Amino acid sequence: MSQPTDTLSHALIGSARQRPSEDPIFAIHGEAVRRAAAGETIIDASLGTLMDEDGGLSVMPSVTEAIGSVDPARAAAYAPISGEQTFNDAVVQDVFGPAGLADQAGCVATAGGTGAVHHAIVNFLDRGERLLTTDYHWGPYGTIADQSGRGVETFPMFDDKNGFNLEGLKRSLEELAKKQSRILLILNFPCHNPTGYSLGEAEWKGVVRILKEVDRATPMALLLDLAYSRYGAPGTDAWVHHIGDLTDHMPVLAAWSASKTFAQYGARTGALAVAMSDPVERRRIENALSYTGRGVWSNCNHLVMLAAMNLLTDPVLRKRVDADRRALLDMLGERVEIFNREAAKANLKYPRYEGGFFVIVFTSDPQETIRRCNAEGLFLVPIKGAVRIALCATPKNVVQSMVEILSRGVAGLQGDH
Ligand SMILES: Cc1ncc(COP(=O)(O)O)c(C=O)c1O
Repeated sequence: MSQPTDTLSHALIGSARQRPSEDPIFAIHGEAVRRAAAGETIIDASLGTLMDEDGGLSVMPSVTEAIGSVDPARAAAYAPISGEQTFNDAVVQDVFGPAGLADQAGCVATAGGTGAVHHAIVNFLDRGERLLTTDYHWGPYGTIADQSGRGVETFPMFDDKNGFNLEGLKRSLEELAKKQSRILLILNFPCHNPTGYSLGEAEWKGVVRILKEVDRATPMALLLDLAYSRYGAPGTDAWVHHIGDLTDHMPVLAAWSASKTFAQYGARTGALAVAMSDPVERRRIENALSYTGRGVWSNCNHLVMLAAMNLLTDPVLRKRVDADRRALLDMLGERVEIFNREAAKANLKYPRYEGGFFVIVFTSDPQETIRRCNAEGLFLVPIKGAVRIALCATPKNVVQSMVEILSRGVAGLQGDH
């Protein structure tokens, strides 16, 4: 005898019963694809993958070759749970080498940058505690926190001059320190998603000063989400000059990802590196992260871990992959230049934009802006007080018309900043 469906459906726990089936950005992209297939001229600036000028996914030939050259028997075997040691060391060097911190850092492999963010959230916050990040941030921080019984607290990212809001950061850290026993701050610079913003030297200096002050009273960890760090203009990696001042005080974590670094989104290859001067505490952190890997996915993708290891350590391959990425950077750089020129002409309100996959344009009515843009075949992502534009997916020959549509989309509406 079959059971009534309402009884059956209760097998699903309460918090899981009303989940949306699709990520909202993939839903917007799906609608753009559907209308393009129906014959409309569409500009799809919704999805965060780097596309060539002809609309195909950008792939780095050296990476494809490196993946093809991995010994199949080695790739088919389980990877060590915490990752191949040579891979881990190479990521540490890649991430913390320029800051001179490689000799006080360790690393574990993760399933993409998402896995690295997950491991930081569940190991540096207790259930019921909230991570701190900017009000504009990558949505899955919230999903990961929610899924694991943690939460998200935000501070306004920009001050009234559209610079980084150091005062807001300080205030929020102080307030959060009164409410919970420890703090995890996530900063996604350079090339922040969704705004494209990168902190300058003075801003990083300010962040480090504030963290050192607050840290005296409350244990804290800083997570640098470096998903887009390889796509910034020269100078956007200013953090490397300042972060060394923190490692006596707190673990500095860095989420590294092959998704953008090697344009291998599907590989699900990443790592969480940690720099901290105390070797005993650092080892404890590595063990905790490795344990979480075992409890979530066991081992990571061995094939691409081995390929990434070769790409990072073999000097010839490294040169080639850097050149492949340079070509993609130049392509993106042209789009950024056209956007900045046209957006300034059109008087659009947006934060400083020096490179990266995304930028935002402020509007007090994102839904109305999106409605108008959609009507003209332009697909963007609405966020609080703004719309996000994925220049990574927008060929340079449509950037000008995209800005024109966008400028009609915000006409008569007041920007928030
Ligand atoms: C800000 C940010 N962090 C982390 C990630 C993680 O990406 P992945 O899990 O593909 O490495 C993304 C991907 O879109 C991102 O935008």
